[in-house]
Amino acid sequence: MYHLFTPVAIGGLELPNHLVRSATAEFLADSEGRPEEALKTLYSDLVDGGVGLIITGHMYVHPGGQCHDRMVGIYADELIPGLRELAKTVHTKGGRAVVQINHGGMQCSTETVADAVAPSAIQADWLKRSARTMSNSEIEEVIRAFALAARRAKVAGFDGVQIHAAHGYLVNQFLSPLVNRREDEWGGDIHGRASFLRSICSAVRSEVGSGYPMLIKLGLADSVDGGLSLAEGLEVVSELESMGLDAVEISAGIGGRRSAAILPGIRKEGDEAYFRSWAREAKRRTRLPILLVGGLRSLSVMEDVLTSGDADLISMCRPLICEPDLPRRLVSGAQERSSCISGNRCWPEGEEAAISCKCPR
Ligand SMILES: Cc1cc2nc3c(=O)[nH]c(=O)nc-3n(C[C@H](O)[C@H](O)[C@H](O)COP(=O)(O)O)c2cc1C
Repeated sequence: MYHLFTPVAIGGLELPNHLVRSATAEFLADSEGRPEEALKTLYSDLVDGGVGLIITGHMYVHPGGQCHDRMVGIYADELIPGLRELAKTVHTKGGRAVVQINHGGMQCSTETVADAVAPSAIQADWLKRSARTMSNSEIEEVIRAFALAARRAKVAGFDGVQIHAAHGYLVNQFLSPLVNRREDEWGGDIHGRASFLRSICSAVRSEVGSGYPMLIKLGLADSVDGGLSLAEGLEVVSELESMGLDAVEISAGIGGRRSAAILPGIRKEGDEAYFRSWAREAKRRTRLPILLVGGLRSLSVMEDVLTSGDADLISMCRPLICEPDLPRRLVSGAQERSSCISGNRCWPEGEEAAISCKCPR
């Protein structure tokens, strides 16, 4: 029996196996951020496909943090009924789902947010737009928005939340010395730049209470010159347990989908698990369970990651767009690796409606 297919618990949440669907923006919401029927069908297929935990696509906690068109929202109580239906769909099938909560900051599209905010107003060639510096009261408002969003996730029946602190979105922007040039209590050294994350964790915890799983997806380094370094990212890792978190998923890269987080062309085992050495480093600094994402494709590599102790759970995004039933196919022996070739054509472009696998296989 593979270790991958045995039960595991994170933050008291019991999962049937060690396979996680990493957060994947589905582009299946209406203009107010209400989930469409097709999102229920997608989650239902994922549960039928055997994944142990679904982390939803990132949901925006505040109207000023909507990253792109058709993103699911969790910024108002009016959205709870639609979210409840989504959670119910997963639970009726016997699955588990955690909501990823996010604010895009300066990485929001100009179509969704006219007046974008950031820790500091900076210029960079990879930035698609300008953003203005947040005031202290706006920072407090966003911290509160994260907490209220987490409460809504709980009221709607989801099994936990994951704070998005990677891929160049607002929490990552605060951690990054490239974007956070503040000289007040929200900036400075890594301790100061982590204040925003610390405050969010504390506000979320007070809102949802102890015992409700609170996860984080952490960009361990920005992977651009002058950005958050791995050493600083690891310092943040050391503090996650005291921030009240229950598990950490390791990722990296500032600058959206073109970043280091979503490497293309994973074709052979040697290309897989591209954050594995960082997970190993993170493991030395925290007792929290570590979810490894990024290029996991074959059963042998997944199993080796777990049995070596480099990470505790295996998380995948593109393979489950390509084959939502991949976990079942791996369990049954029908397949030994994902058919995903990581061509990165699954992110919708232009007039396209929603995620779908478009790479030739
Ligand atoms: C279409 C698409 C949507 C994504 N949406 C999110 C998201 O909402 N939140 C997030 O943290 N990461 C998101 N990611 C990144 C993935 O979760 C994951 O970190 C990355 O794709 C590497 O894992 P993989 O090799 O298994 O695809 C997205 C990636 C893709 C391709």
